[in-house]
Amino acid sequence: MPLRSVNHLLSLRALLAASLATLLWTTGCSTTYRADVPLYKQLGGPDHIRAFTGKALSRVAADPVAGRSFKGIKMPFLIDSVGNYICKVADGPCVYEGQDMQKSHADLNLGGSEFDVLVQALREEMDAAGVPNGAKNELLRRLAPSRSEIVTH
Ligand code: HEM
Repeated sequence: MPLRSVNHLLSLRALLAASLATLLWTTGCSTTYRADVPLYKQLGGPDHIRAFTGKALSRVAADPVAGRSFKGIKMPFLIDSVGNYICKVADGPCVYEGQDMQKSHADLNLGGSEFDVLVQALREEMDAAGVPNGAKNELLRRLAPSRSEIVTH
């Protein structure tokens, strides 16, 4: 192929790559967390947050070990409450009316590995829901400090 055609092809590829990057950036599909867009929007909004939170909680409730804490718990109420909490942590317009993290988990005697099961379930459900990596990691980063309030041994 003549050199001019190769150059032409290369610049066409560069142009396409730049256009795709611009499109992803402007549509909010960037995998990078954007400090100028509220996190709850990057997570897909309150309904989306509630949906992936509910799936993650249901998975933990079905876990042979970590599921022990969920016996007798009314899951739809818990999912609503945790969904609102996470939406608020993500700067969303949701109202969380539950107790603080220490009080609400005080009687559960939770270990670090049980906390990790929930974090992993959240990570996987956000992936399945198509949440961009940057937003997913920012949410997990904001939830991480609650570990010391929730885990008691
Ligand atoms: C980042 C980690 C976690 C967050 C953000 C979180 C958040 C919450 C919230 C917001 C509530 C509702 C409190 C209320 O409505 O007053 C709650 C309750 C509860 N959480 Fe968690 N939680 C976390 C970790 C865990 C883990 C690891 C488990 C168990 C494996 C767990 C099991 C429960 C249960 C069973 C309840 C209901 C307690 C009750 O009603 O007596 N949570 N959690």
